[in-house]
Amino acid sequence: MASSSLRLENIEKNFGSGHTEIHALKKLNFTVNPGEFVAIIGPSGSGKSTFLTIAGLLQTPTAGKVFLGDQDLTGLAENKRAKARLHDIGFILQSNNLVPFLKVKEQFRFLDHVLKRPFQETVYQELLTSLDIADLSDKMPRELSGGEKQRVTLAKALYNDPQIILADEPTAALDTQHATDVVKLLAKEAHTKGKACIMVTHDIRMVTFCDVVYQLEDGRLSREN
Ligand SMILES: Nc1ncnc2c1ncn2[C@@H]1O[C@H](COP(=O)(O)OP(=O)(O)O)[C@@H](O)[C@H]1O
Ligand SMILES: [Mg+2]
Repeated sequence: MASSSLRLENIEKNFGSGHTEIHALKKLNFTVNPGEFVAIIGPSGSGKSTFLTIAGLLQTPTAGKVFLGDQDLTGLAENKRAKARLHDIGFILQSNNLVPFLKVKEQFRFLDHVLKRPFQETVYQELLTSLDIADLSDKMPRELSGGEKQRVTLAKALYNDPQIILADEPTAALDTQHATDVVKLLAKEAHTKGKACIMVTHDIRMVTFCDVVYQLEDGRLSREN
């Protein structure tokens, strides 16, 4: 599929009601283009995960619209949203999305099964090698460290070749070397494959690899660079 921009228009997200109502996102406007690697930084509770899950169609905004290219995704039926998530969006959640009873390699084969395609041997080997997890193919998720799980989750998200990559704190459990590997890989996906990539982080060291840096504070987004 041709690459498209992901655009959020006047997004608001409220939780609860009455005097306990939380305005997690306030009239937020944002665009990420193909080939662009964007960082969103901000303190805990500022709305980063809410922003990313709305961008990734995992929850709906209270008001505003999400566009992929010219297509308004906001009003799509859930089955169409699920299809867009499967084919167009690679989501790296804070909690990993590994299937507990499948070995690492089987996690990827399962995706191939869902997508009705053969195993992508070369893509698989390249991804695992660049993340320093090539020797984990036959391990179960329970045998992996937190950082290893995080990198397998990232490899799974990229294996599909999604045009949009959304990563929520993808370096949180990693030492500096592995964190740098992860961010460099995301930068490569954006810059050499034309992916649109958003990384939420509070690891300031990592934003040197990003093209655009935004600060999210109390539900409002402002550009930093
Ligand atoms: N499902 C929810 N129900 C109620 N409040 C929520 C929910 N999700 C997030 N919030 C609130 O919205 C605000 C932003 O949360 P979040 O997006 O998780 O921030 P961050 O990822 O920056 O830490 C917080 O005040 C949080 O408590
Ligand atoms: Mg969060």
